[in-house]
Amino acid sequence: MHADIQRVLISQWQISARVQELARQITQDLQREQASEDAARSGGGPELTIIPIMTGAMIFASDLIRHIPIAMRIGLLTVSSYPGAAMSSQGSTLTTAQLPDLRGRHVLAVDDILDSGGTLRLVVPRLRELGAVSVKTCVLLRKDRPQAKATPADYVGFDIPDEFVVGYGLDFNNYYRNLPDIAILHPEAVERRKHG
Ligand code: IMP
Ligand code: MG
Repeated sequence: MHADIQRVLISQWQISARVQELARQITQDLQREQASEDAARSGGGPELTIIPIMTGAMIFASDLIRHIPIAMRIGLLTVSSYPGAAMSSQGSTLTTAQLPDLRGRHVLAVDDILDSGGTLRLVVPRLRELGAVSVKTCVLLRKDRPQAKATPADYVGFDIPDEFVVGYGLDFNNYYRNLPDIAILHPEAVERRKHG
């Protein structure tokens, strides 16, 4: 698998440090934002429903949540925007079957990468429709392209060049999610994995 990598863009050590910073920021914001609500409900502390967008955000979310020490529920949302071996977006489908009741809940949607922005533009209004009182978004990566920059995200791990990346949950044709680093593939590997 490592022979397929042309270049490591972000190392696992950089990812780990940044994930901890993001978690700290998210925790502080929740504590501050829910302080008055909390006093009104006489304690209990802040609460959050985390919604990792499957499958790409699986690894990022699993690391992130272990650094957010507040009461938390998890719901899964599946959005497929790159079916199979496509490397550019082809329109998205959303599956909400594995979500808990979001009515009255503070929600944080977590995604691996902000690319065209189509996913977040689809997901955020849908979570509001389902009754969430607040919907925030957190992405590990944001590509340097106008559509990505124009899509609001509350927390961004790293801004990266507009290149196709794999690893730490991100796939090509469902391969490479288990790479610990974020990397760019050799063109030959792309050719080979296109066919499964
Ligand atoms: P968007 O909807 O175009 O913002 O793209 C979001 C989704 O596309 C991500 O959750 C990824 O699953 C996928 N995606 C976009 N860029 C890449 C990439 O460089 N590598 C792997 N997956 C990507
Ligand atoms: Mg993907």
